[in-house]
Amino acid sequence: MERNRWYKDAVFYQIWPRSFKDGNGDGIGDLWGVLEKLDYIASLGVTGIWFSPLYVSPQADYGYDIADYKAINPEYGDLDVFQQVLDGAHARGLRVIMDLVVNHTSSEHPWFKESRTSRDNPYHDYYIWRDGGRDREGNPTPPNNWDSLFEGRAWEYEPAIDQWYLHVFAKGQPDLNMDNPAVRAEVEDIMRFWLDMGVDGFREDVITFISKVEGMPSDHLMVPGARGLRFYENGPHVHEYLEQFRDNVLSHYDCMTVGEAPMITPDKALPFIEEGPNQTLDMMFTFEHMCADCLFTDYVPLPFNLRKLKGAFSKWQKELDGKAWNALYIENHDHPRVVSRYGSEAYRVESAKLLAASYLFQKGTPFVYQGQEIGMTNTHFGSIDEVPDVSAQNQYRNRMASGAKESDVMALINRAARDHSRTPVQWSAEENAGFCPAGVEPWFAVNPNYHGINVAAAEEGEDSILNFYRKAIALRRELPVVREGSYKEFKRVSNELYVYAREMEGQRLLVICNFADHETLMRPPAGYDPSLGELRLGNYDDAPGTRPDGFLPLRPWECRVYVYE
Ligand code: NOJ
Repeated sequence: MERNRWYKDAVFYQIWPRSFKDGNGDGIGDLWGVLEKLDYIASLGVTGIWFSPLYVSPQADYGYDIADYKAINPEYGDLDVFQQVLDGAHARGLRVIMDLVVNHTSSEHPWFKESRTSRDNPYHDYYIWRDGGRDREGNPTPPNNWDSLFEGRAWEYEPAIDQWYLHVFAKGQPDLNMDNPAVRAEVEDIMRFWLDMGVDGFREDVITFISKVEGMPSDHLMVPGARGLRFYENGPHVHEYLEQFRDNVLSHYDCMTVGEAPMITPDKALPFIEEGPNQTLDMMFTFEHMCADCLFTDYVPLPFNLRKLKGAFSKWQKELDGKAWNALYIENHDHPRVVSRYGSEAYRVESAKLLAASYLFQKGTPFVYQGQEIGMTNTHFGSIDEVPDVSAQNQYRNRMASGAKESDVMALINRAARDHSRTPVQWSAEENAGFCPAGVEPWFAVNPNYHGINVAAAEEGEDSILNFYRKAIALRRELPVVREGSYKEFKRVSNELYVYAREMEGQRLLVICNFADHETLMRPPAGYDPSLGELRLGNYDDAPGTRPDGFLPLRPWECRVYVYE
């Protein structure tokens, strides 16, 4: 099928369904809630929705542990209501992409339940089972020293068959054996099921992890908590398997794919996303720009470093230019809220708008995460019992076991937990933030700041963060330079300013962002005299011009978007 690459004009809104909107009054977000909010989503000006997993799941990792790929989790609805959501979205010009989680299933998936019963079971080879060893006392020991990224060791013992299964995430997420052609056929079948129903593509969960190095040797590089990672990150057959999915399924539909690719670098990404006959994914979610205040993971925090953020943004803009397409995001369900990380809670409104401008005008397809558009912030966890996420629980357990002080561990959890972005969306100042009815306990505590920060209040304010997102998205869709133009960064060594331009014949755009709690002076880049451009967007009421000494004064967290035609 001839591809028109419609995703290049798209702007996506990500829904993490459990916390989006409760429509049936049980305290859990669901598809009825989504139906109620379709007009709201369309009002943002976005053109698509990415649903984090909606499928049947015991929720060990909140839906990323799937027990039935072809049915909706009953807490969220059923296939009929999903079809209504899909039709309702399409009727509003919104495409819908599903999360495709095929590196692993749930341990409650019938395939896994079968596979663990005997070595001869036809489903045994759907998973990665290996023999282990014995220690001096005769106790079973795992096949290698790999760590799970979420929960202890990467192997779990099954006494019934005296073998171990691999889980690079939680124990309840056994890795599928993608080397087995029957498993790949199942993946194709799942893809066809949803595409035939009318969905427009997939966000492919940790898709670069699906192929493990043969022999799965022990890892002698001491990467605490991540031993083994290098033996399955971008593994030996990943391209071959994705080519198969493309040729047998995806190429027969007018659909798009965005693959999640932790740790990927541009040289490793291009073989997947470079446009041409070998391309297997349309875009990738990369991670470098999410490490501007940490080392590799949110759990190794560092002070925020704007140069690191800018370096990551510009590197990907430059390296993919003319070859491949970027997926742009600054928030999702796996990281704390961006205002609390890269912005300033003291200047919440200004910094949320600035952060929007910092990425929405780059080249690529933007994704906006639920609540991001109203500047939701991190919450506060008083104790680990208030933090449901399996990975946070694991971090807590490991650090406590190694003798760390409880208050230090909780400080880290409060800094790094991805549960910050999973609190219910704040719809109004009513009880439970309007997420679920008054008197019903929401599945996860609402952030107490909902009285001031909520959609209803933001709708009222002409200058709200929400309306800024609307204007920015509209502007991006209006200006061809945002889709087509080249990217150029200025002030690269500044620790306060992020300034970039987009250029094409006949139209240029300049984005200025002052990442500081104080006023900063900037000499405008050559050729970008603010007085000659049209100020199309800003986060203060006025925009003082260049001073007689040639400097442009920028107030705390000020951003401006100028267009030159
Ligand atoms: C990435 C997903 O975004 C995350 O939420 C999940 O925990 C892991 N993959 C495992 O599926």
